[in-house]
Amino acid sequence: MKKIIALSAITCLVIAAFYFSSCKDKKSEPQANNKEDSLAKVMDRGKYLVEHVAGCIDCHSKRDFSKYSGPVVPGTEGGGGFAFDEKLGLPGVVYGRNITPDPETGIGTWTDDDILKAMTQGISKNGDTLFPLMPYVNYNYMAKEDLMSIIAYIKTLKPIKNKVPARQLMMPISMAYPGPALQASVDGNIRPAENDLVKYGGYLANMADCGTCHSPLTPQGPDVMTRKFAGGYTFQLPANKVTSSNITSDSATGIGTWTEERFLNKFIPYREEKGYNYDPGNQNTVMPLSLLAGMTDADLKAIYAYLRTIKPISNKVEKFPK
Ligand code: HEC
Ligand code: HEC
Repeated sequence: MKKIIALSAITCLVIAAFYFSSCKDKKSEPQANNKEDSLAKVMDRGKYLVEHVAGCIDCHSKRDFSKYSGPVVPGTEGGGGFAFDEKLGLPGVVYGRNITPDPETGIGTWTDDDILKAMTQGISKNGDTLFPLMPYVNYNYMAKEDLMSIIAYIKTLKPIKNKVPARQLMMPISMAYPGPALQASVDGNIRPAENDLVKYGGYLANMADCGTCHSPLTPQGPDVMTRKFAGGYTFQLPANKVTSSNITSDSATGIGTWTEERFLNKFIPYREEKGYNYDPGNQNTVMPLSLLAGMTDADLKAIYAYLRTIKPISNKVEKFPK
């Protein structure tokens, strides 16, 4: 994975503008108001990333695969327990853990630093190395401000009492597909400016981990090193098998001929419940569309712009193999 580097002078400008506007504010207790404002902004950003971009809610809740794209079962947000197993191509079974603030079965006793370490280094509070299905390799490149807003938000999830079983792998965790070396600190990570579409889109695609599902599965795990976005990872759902699409810019086998509009229309219909609240028969998908559809048009356009820059890889994929 390439390190995402970009300059973000915008942040400084925003802070400067904010500072000057607050200087002009002569109303009573302007400071307290500003604090509430910025806290609300952090929470909004955290909620948006947790629910619609970074997939935390997707993997850490129960999902209902009797409906299209397996929407989250309401009331289970963050409670964990979903089993990722052989049917999804894993060497054993790994459960999404309970990340609600329940003190006994969740992460209620964890400090911000404990959560940050799990998210970006893959080390649980008890020292356990997490299976890299938890995308800490990706989050290792997320800007600190985004990481902190996610942490602030998950601490406000409704506590759920749910003791999640320990994972059972057929190999030692050290042999689980080794990701690239992790940076020891995330302090230097920068969030690209939102108007730098390609860079910001790459930043979001990394956070949403589109790459893992959209790479061919090999015995060493999904091939994100040489065939990222080429598709070909097959998942077994209750009613059907589904294989991830080639989303490189290859015209014949990928999405090279897709317009921006067509790309947005892959997501937009699932913003409303009626878009996914039906039985898809044997054409279901694992792509968490009911969640990803909540991304803003601007963010989806950025991801599209980024995917256009991915070198074409020819790989013909059958979406619903027998
Ligand atoms: C692709 C699925 C997936 C996504 C997306 C995901 N996680 Fe995880 N996460 C897991 C799994 C699976 C584990 C447990 C791994 C294991 O048992 O080795 C885990 C473990 C954790 C842990 C450690 C909990 C403990 O008790 O040790 C934390 C904290 C966590 N995830 C937070 C998050 C946050 C916050 C996000 C979103 C930014 C997120 N996860 C996104 C699958 C995911
Ligand atoms: C959990 C696995 C998973 C994740 C995460 C995921 N996808 Fe998918 N995606 C799939 C599968 C499987 C398909 C094929 C079935 C379908 O169309 O839903 C697919 C299909 C697609 C298609 C349709 C392509 C075509 O030829 O019809 C696009 C576009 C796409 N994904 C883009 C993305 C983007 C962008 C992201 C990240 C924001 C992403 N996906 C995240 C599994 C995933």
